[in-house]
Amino acid sequence: MRRRGGDGDSGDSGDIGDIGRAERRHGTARHGRARRWWLPWLRSLLLAPLLSCAAVPFLIRLFPSLLTKFVYLNFLAFPFFVDFRRPELLVNNTINLYLTTEPGVTVGIWHTVPSSKGAEAQGKEQRWYEEALADAHPVIIYLHGNGGTRAASHRVQFLKTMGAADFHILALDYRGYGDSTGRPSESGFTTDVLALYDWVKARSGNSSILFWGHSLGTGIATNAARKLQEERGKGQHGWVVPMQCHPGLILGPQRR
Ligand SMILES: *[C@@H]1O[C@H](CO)[C@@H](O)[C@H](O)[C@H]1NC(C)=O
Ligand SMILES: *[C@@H]1O[C@H](CO)[C@@H](O)[C@H](O)[C@H]1NC(C)=O
Repeated sequence: MRRRGGDGDSGDSGDIGDIGRAERRHGTARHGRARRWWLPWLRSLLLAPLLSCAAVPFLIRLFPSLLTKFVYLNFLAFPFFVDFRRPELLVNNTINLYLTTEPGVTVGIWHTVPSSKGAEAQGKEQRWYEEALADAHPVIIYLHGNGGTRAASHRVQFLKTMGAADFHILALDYRGYGDSTGRPSESGFTTDVLALYDWVKARSGNSSILFWGHSLGTGIATNAARKLQEERGKGQHGWVVPMQCHPGLILGPQRR
């Protein structure tokens, strides 16, 4: 039986003695042998992802639709088995609604009211929620990232946190996500978001409206903000674009 460790390494066969000594100088003598068998494993472990990464551009060139699938990830509709019509099971003071953003496209939205209105909100219908938008609390339009739906737990957490901070939050599932109809596309997302913006604007009086984008949503927020400014912003809004570092971006139309 071979004894190892400490200074008693002399039991090792002579041919690795030199290596052993050299390594001991660097304080790694004990791992000298182990390294031999796990190195190839490590090599293949590192090589596999590298090769898959290298293959991606070729796959995308062969199958362009893969690109949109992997950018949007809307087919990953987690969490599964959620009843979108009953958001109150996940977050209080919230109602589910649908908005037709263009003919044939209807998107699902959750509207959470400021928690200071929580008691009042109990058992109220959509009409009450719509009227509540004019209560001077700022409104966040939340644009989520790729994959999953508005019911994903970190998004629900966002609704709770910002609701507690007394914001209105409207979280939509873009076309093709969750229970929204239609197919995902960059211009389609912008259309959905602008339709929601107009819907909010028609009900929110003088309240500020913020776009809060997360990941993929930051790009959508930028597109929507640019389009708003180009098409109807002139003279009406001073646009403020404070950038949060990843994972967020706030764009706010603010009144002067
Ligand atoms: C809603 O509020 C009640 C009372 O504060 C709390 O007990 C309950 O856990 C909340 N529900 C959810 C889904 O957060
Ligand atoms: C919005 O602001 C304008 C001018 O600041 C004011 O005249 C108007 O009454 C306000 N509207 C609401 C709904 O508060």
